[in-house]
Amino acid sequence: MPLKKLVAGNWKMHGLSSDLAEVREIAKESRDYPTVDVALCVPAILIERAARAAPDFAIGGQDVHEAEKGAHTGCISAQMLLDAGASLTIVGHSERRDAQRENDRDVKAKAETALASGLNVILCVGENLDVREQGGAVQTVVGQVDASIPGECPEQAQLAIAYEPIWAIGTGKVPANREIAEMHSAIRKRLVDRYGSAGESVRILYGGSVKPSNANEIFSIADVDGALVGGASLKAADFIPIVAAAATSTP
Ligand code: PGA
Repeated sequence: MPLKKLVAGNWKMHGLSSDLAEVREIAKESRDYPTVDVALCVPAILIERAARAAPDFAIGGQDVHEAEKGAHTGCISAQMLLDAGASLTIVGHSERRDAQRENDRDVKAKAETALASGLNVILCVGENLDVREQGGAVQTVVGQVDASIPGECPEQAQLAIAYEPIWAIGTGKVPANREIAEMHSAIRKRLVDRYGSAGESVRILYGGSVKPSNANEIFSIADVDGALVGGASLKAADFIPIVAAAATSTP
């Protein structure tokens, strides 16, 4: 049974009050595709307004602190995300692994805290260009999965893994279909090794330069259960065709 696809937008550091109309439009048009789960991960300060603008639509954060509360200036807890109206969060995005020096241990702790609080989690992994060129991509990414996924398998649909090759993010470059297939199958195998048959129901998203023009092809690859979309999620005109592709594609 193929899993229900998840198409999540990652707005990164984009989004002001004036963009709430776009959130509303994306939520409205997404209703035409009930066979796809759609979400937008917006800047933390926009979550509450986005959730009010689009009730019944999944709004998420882009990071969460591993602690429940405490002396962590500038950080955001899982309860704060929930309180603002979020139902999910991204953890371990490569931009944070790089700029905020987050490692697999941090990412695992964040994922465990978020899941225990009732948030769904999109946990990101991905190799850089050097690693890809040296032939170590699968080993590196499977190693990241191993070290950063929660110890216990969360309930169905709560956890998604996003495979995002760093060299494909925001560059317009996308791995060959066979490279995506090879990576997703290796991630699936490791999830099943770790979680048993429950690992079959963890969605594996592809991320990195997903556009309306390549979405159909990407969604037709085995074990691609959705996408994490950056630049093309900012406007309904770009994002909704990707949701539509997820609704029609069959691996
Ligand atoms: P992109 O970003 O779609 O703009 O390449 C993806 C991501 O970083 O999640």
